[in-house]
Amino acid sequence: MNIKNRRHFLTLKDLSSTELEKLLQRSIELKKIQHSGEIYEPLKNKVLGMIFEKSSTRTRVSFEAGMAQFGGSAIFLSSHDTQLGRGEPVEDSARVLSSMVDAVMIRTFEHNKVERFAEYSSVPVINALTDDYHPCQLLADMQTYLEHRGSIQGKIVTWIGDGNNMCHSYINAAQQFGFTLNIATPDGFEPDSEIINSAQNSGTTINLMRDPLEATTGSDLVVTDVWASMGQEDESAQRLKLFSNYQVNSKLMQQANSEALFMHCLPAHRGEEVSSSVIDGDQSVVWNEAENRLHAQKALLELLLTSTDK
Ligand code: CP
Ligand code: NVA
Repeated sequence: MNIKNRRHFLTLKDLSSTELEKLLQRSIELKKIQHSGEIYEPLKNKVLGMIFEKSSTRTRVSFEAGMAQFGGSAIFLSSHDTQLGRGEPVEDSARVLSSMVDAVMIRTFEHNKVERFAEYSSVPVINALTDDYHPCQLLADMQTYLEHRGSIQGKIVTWIGDGNNMCHSYINAAQQFGFTLNIATPDGFEPDSEIINSAQNSGTTINLMRDPLEATTGSDLVVTDVWASMGQEDESAQRLKLFSNYQVNSKLMQQANSEALFMHCLPAHRGEEVSSSVIDGDQSVVWNEAENRLHAQKALLELLLTSTDK
């Protein structure tokens, strides 16, 4: 692969709106292929390196299963037992690993680390969650909305809770998919202002709010996430108090449109950011959302690894 032509997926902005729409359609097709039992192996003999510096269930299994279903394979690399964890520079690791595998997926802390890795990698790099973004999850979320309710363009989406990596990716999604995003966070937990400004400057409506009930009024999709993300475990007890008014429960969902859906990237904490009545209720699509990680990432891998500019 020509290093200049390789494409990365570090945020949703690395693909155009048109490419994202096509990717979702392809993901729906790949889901049908998978469910029908048809063998489809466009990545035969291809290898995905998967670097995990944080825990994962869905991301690891969806990428690993996806590569196996596509006829390829994946190598799980934990920072605990690779030289990355002992201080080998990211730039050196990128050059070495990318000389051996066909794509690299990274879950880490600093977003800058995946950017540096991508700069020195000769193969596509996929962001599988950083402290700042979780773009792969948004592919699955957008597919799930499309499957249940059709186009999300022009709809109102409400983010409740922490202005974290998922919230940042929802801001990017609002820009790329053309929806309005209401964000309700406690004081001091707002998303990054540069990310908001960038979306607003492109004409996207992002409403920063304090009141979760107001933010949910008339909403078509309500989304939340854990109050303490990976790496913030020390703040868990304090956050539990500060976020106590930000639980997505039945009272909150009643403010939304009657057709509104509920999503959560999982893992969830019932009784904290979401009540059992909501996550296990009729409006919740969290299990489809989780399954779609597999199909959407297969569509992404196909796009990055089988495009003609090799
Ligand atoms: N939603 C998500 O990324 O889940 P995992 O942390 O289990 O990969
Ligand atoms: N915001 C959460 C998402 C987990 C998939 C975290 O970063 O831990």
